[in-house]
Amino acid sequence: MRSDNHPITSRRLSEDADMTYLLRDVDEVYRRSSAGGSKVIRSHQRRVRESVSRVLECDGYLLNPEPVGKPVVNHLPRALELGASGPLAQLARTVGRIAARLVWAHGYDKMPRSLARRYAFTEILGPSGPIFSENVIIGLVLFAPGTVYPQHSHQQIEESYVSVAGAWSENDAAVYAPGSLILNRPGDLHRITVGDRDPCLLVYAWLGTLERLRQPEMVFTRGRRGEASIP
Ligand SMILES: [Fe+2]
Repeated sequence: MRSDNHPITSRRLSEDADMTYLLRDVDEVYRRSSAGGSKVIRSHQRRVRESVSRVLECDGYLLNPEPVGKPVVNHLPRALELGASGPLAQLARTVGRIAARLVWAHGYDKMPRSLARRYAFTEILGPSGPIFSENVIIGLVLFAPGTVYPQHSHQQIEESYVSVAGAWSENDAAVYAPGSLILNRPGDLHRITVGDRDPCLLVYAWLGTLERLRQPEMVFTRGRRGEASIP
């Protein structure tokens, strides 16, 4: 069995305590957080939990990607410090334990140089690992203070963000504190801004078909409807 990018090792999740706890902490986030009375959000949370539980129950495979850093990772310690006093404290501490193993990426061939210094994402669970899954991607996205993350959308992918640390806004609609969950349905355009003083760390989940999760295709929309392979 292979993913597109990395051979699957014979290692199983149960052999890696930190990765197991990380996945359990993500499961807990989607189990514990309120749906705010929304049936649509409740359904999304349930499907994310089911995908995560399946990997935990069948003791999923681990891939072995080489760690990769990006400039914005300099802000990760501060984000995790802030997160450790917030509602997702346990997850923040667990991320701290595996931080040196993460593969950070930009997801764009071309992007503004200023954004390349201010943003990156890393996947935890998905077709590229480090924990293998075919029907969900779960990852982290990190923004430096003051970042404006351009408008984008995801075709045939349902996305949620849950904030671990920092204050942020989507589409200028509200300011979201740690613990908040935002759902972006397929095709929903969204643009993120981050407060000036602190970095922002979000957990994200993508639900979609394996084909779509492996090849989401991407561009920033620049005012037109488009797709993105970044969170
Ligand atoms: Fe997104």
